[in-house]
Amino acid sequence: MTTAMRGVARVTDLSVRLAVRAGRRRTPAPGVDRDLAVRIAAVRYPCADVALVDLAGDALPAWRPGSHVDVVLPSGRVRQYSLCDGGRDVYRIAVRLVGDGSREVHSLVAGTPLTLRGPRNAFPLAAAPSFLFLAGGIGITPIAPMVRAAAAAGTDWRLVHTGRTLDSMPLSASLADLDPSRVTRVSDGGSPTPAAELLGDLPAGCAVYCCGPPAMIDAVRVATPAGHRFHSERFSPPPIRNGRPFTVGIAGGPDVAVPADRSALDVVREVRPDVAWSCRQGFCGTCHVPLVEGTTTGDTAGPGRTALCVARASADRIVVDLR
Ligand code: FES
Repeated sequence: MTTAMRGVARVTDLSVRLAVRAGRRRTPAPGVDRDLAVRIAAVRYPCADVALVDLAGDALPAWRPGSHVDVVLPSGRVRQYSLCDGGRDVYRIAVRLVGDGSREVHSLVAGTPLTLRGPRNAFPLAAAPSFLFLAGGIGITPIAPMVRAAAAAGTDWRLVHTGRTLDSMPLSASLADLDPSRVTRVSDGGSPTPAAELLGDLPAGCAVYCCGPPAMIDAVRVATPAGHRFHSERFSPPPIRNGRPFTVGIAGGPDVAVPADRSALDVVREVRPDVAWSCRQGFCGTCHVPLVEGTTTGDTAGPGRTALCVARASADRIVVDLR
């Protein structure tokens, strides 16, 4: 961390420390809708397939653990990444190489200008007497600043980070410098560790924060004993359960059939690969398009629009305008 980053991180830690000591549940940081001009200050590779990217800007908005930013890439793709470190002059993100967006991030070099939107916080750290942080793979990114905040606040905490191999797991080795006795790094070789083992013996009132693959989150959620708050953030869309097939008519053609277990976004992109997407979980707005016929359920877009990634038709057919 640079000297400047250390200074601003201290400011972020202080706000969390005061909130934790005051014993109040913090409200999520409000979203910032304006575009933020940044440039890439540095790119490093702590693991073969993970890039740590420092994004420098002037008087960047303050953020709290759990926040993410939209990164508008030079191609126009928009991707969400959790802030894993930094402050008002530099944001740091960690990006694992999976898919087109991350491939583009990995190709970027220092000096490249980028646009950010945010930060927004859908995964805020609430006050608790103690914390168990569980991270699967790159799920460590929102968890890392939570760990630092809990340590700075003098709150009891434990971190378990799992991954295929120890050298594929970024950030947690340096978090162990805070207190090695509180950090467990598990190399599972691709066989998930049982949730009960991850949870261990929870102290009374301990809050569980989990970020990782959907299967890990679901297993930990189910296994978390009553009396403990469970908080999670996914980095991929949840599976579609109890979906019904329907048809999406694209104004001007063609119609596409959406099976029960797929999203309209996935199917529409087979015939219209130009349809943009980012979060695939309904919150970023990138895939929102005009809804010209029919009604939807589970939609997160406003009136007259539909979020192709999560909405499903209330009846057999909807029509959208992609022009
Ligand atoms: S891709 Fe983000 S709302 Fe659909």
